[in-house]
Amino acid sequence: MFDFLLRTKAHSKQLLPDGVDMHSHILPGVDDGSPDAETSLTIIRHLIQSGLSGACCTPHIMLRYPGNTPASLRQRFDTFRQTIDQHLGPGTFHLHLAAEYMIDEGFATAIRAEGAPLRLPGERVLIELPQYLLPDGWMDALLSVRDLGYTPVLAHPERYIRLLDTDDLRSIVAQGIQLQGNIGSLTGLYGKPIQQRANELRALGLYTLWGTDVHSPGMARRLHLNP
Ligand SMILES: [Fe+2]
Repeated sequence: MFDFLLRTKAHSKQLLPDGVDMHSHILPGVDDGSPDAETSLTIIRHLIQSGLSGACCTPHIMLRYPGNTPASLRQRFDTFRQTIDQHLGPGTFHLHLAAEYMIDEGFATAIRAEGAPLRLPGERVLIELPQYLLPDGWMDALLSVRDLGYTPVLAHPERYIRLLDTDDLRSIVAQGIQLQGNIGSLTGLYGKPIQQRANELRALGLYTLWGTDVHSPGMARRLHLNP
């Protein structure tokens, strides 16, 4: 009821100086994000209103979605990009294909599939952890990506509030791993404790990248992201 009291606004110009969302689930029909191109268009229109000019599509690559391989996602992405260009005009909203890799039992294989992982700009690989339990060898898994010549990026570290404290995250950053914050964390989308943690990590300068992690039009609205 008093949810609005927690809410603060975020500004895309401050968090995303290039105007590009670094984390989104707008590639339709491949994971728990947008189910179809029409829904993705609704989300993208909202992102444009929020001041964005592009987004990295970061579909989940995890055991739960065995069909999500770089080749299958690339194929989907090419069709999706054409659809978006047809509806919005060519180049109106820039799309880039990356992925969000889960550290699960398939991670070591997935990260080497087809020779190279799907990457964010700057040879970065976006990686997530399970919400409630750190898997054995999770740090080695992150470092294995660095050893392959890429920069690992840990997605939404503020959300692992029960698993990793601020010192853990400082140590992760010291080992060459970057942190990507969720904009919704700053504005209270995930509740007060995560909002406080995100603001603390931001004040410490621990984040390198920001993204919406948007999954739906409703979530896009609840980001409270302004130009
Ligand atoms: Fe995500």
